[in-house]
Amino acid sequence: MEKQVVTLAVRIIRRSNRDNRADAVLRENTRNSELSPQRIRLVVKAVFDYFRWLPWLNPYLGVGQQLAEMEVLQSREVSDDELRRLALPNWVSEVMPIELAWLRSLQQQPRLWLRTRQGFKAKVLESLPDCSEGPKDYPESLEYLGTQDLFREKSFQEGWFEIQDISSQAIGHLCDPKPEETWWDACAGEGGKTLHLADLMMNKGLIWVSDPAAWRLDRLKRRTARAKVFNYRRELWNGGAKLPTKTKFDGILVDAPCSGVGTWQRNPHSRWTCSLDEVKRLADLQVQILLNAKQGLKPNGRLVYSVCTLTTPETEDVVAAVSQQSPELRLEIKKIIWPQDAGGNGMFGAVWTRVAMG
Ligand SMILES: C[S@@+](CC[C@H](N)C(=O)[O-])C[C@H]1O[C@@H](n2cnc3c(N)ncnc32)[C@H](O)[C@@H]1O
Repeated sequence: MEKQVVTLAVRIIRRSNRDNRADAVLRENTRNSELSPQRIRLVVKAVFDYFRWLPWLNPYLGVGQQLAEMEVLQSREVSDDELRRLALPNWVSEVMPIELAWLRSLQQQPRLWLRTRQGFKAKVLESLPDCSEGPKDYPESLEYLGTQDLFREKSFQEGWFEIQDISSQAIGHLCDPKPEETWWDACAGEGGKTLHLADLMMNKGLIWVSDPAAWRLDRLKRRTARAKVFNYRRELWNGGAKLPTKTKFDGILVDAPCSGVGTWQRNPHSRWTCSLDEVKRLADLQVQILLNAKQGLKPNGRLVYSVCTLTTPETEDVVAAVSQQSPELRLEIKKIIWPQDAGGNGMFGAVWTRVAMG
């Protein structure tokens, strides 16, 4: 590793802790860096690889020496026993089944997925040759195998494609919104799924988007402008009983705040900052958000719950609690997506229909 790359990686690793997570520290420290995009990419890889291999590293060495140790480690075979002992903190086995194949996937580099806007796939393939087709069920998806900085590509700036994990794309398809419908993306954040819903609706109909974080909705506004999506309304909403609008919806997506266990391959620092308490607190919050959001459903409307985690309290238990407290909802689908099967994040999705009453 080059000296400049090591120096910046060491600084970022030293600054990362439970309150300052590595992905945020990385963003902050690379935003105005003089390093080239290629070198920044190497810094990002070094930082994430460091946290991926942390329990394997000698704690008595300095971070710089540990980075050198890590490079050697990565090139050797890792035994099943090592994976079981070292890849995760102990509390995880209390809240979810742990398969060896998942542990193995956690130690590998994540794959990069694109979602092309409907009708733009051929143009994207022309401008970005280093792509291969995604799964057949998601015909607009591509895997990016190259090393270019995609944010600088004209095809990205023109809004022909989004960078979106393949398992997140699966959630858009689970929603299955139709043109002219009215949807509410209740935890819209920066709008990754809003953009997919809009594309599936061929930009016809209306999408309400809400989130408690105004800065996230600001980013959503920039993304929708690039993707030329204008049929939406934005409101702040913190999951409380007072909904942002009296409008009734054909579909509501609650892409809820969660522990993010399903993203631990992409963001390995969270493995060591997440806790059992956090899982339990977020599971309770997810139930509350769903119970409040469902008030906005039309008869026969669809409530979609998704989380990028795999813990039982945040997935199965939330579905059971919501179903139990909602006689008007019929559970239609439950879907768990494992990283080792999908080649992307771990996700969970569930869909209820509001049965027409009276
Ligand atoms: C998984 S992220 C959403 C990602 C987004 N849907 C996307 O695809 O890009 C969860 C979102 O929930 C929001 N959130 C946090 N607490 C919330 C609450 N109490 N009620 C509603 N949303 C909340 C967060 O600000 C965050 O944007």
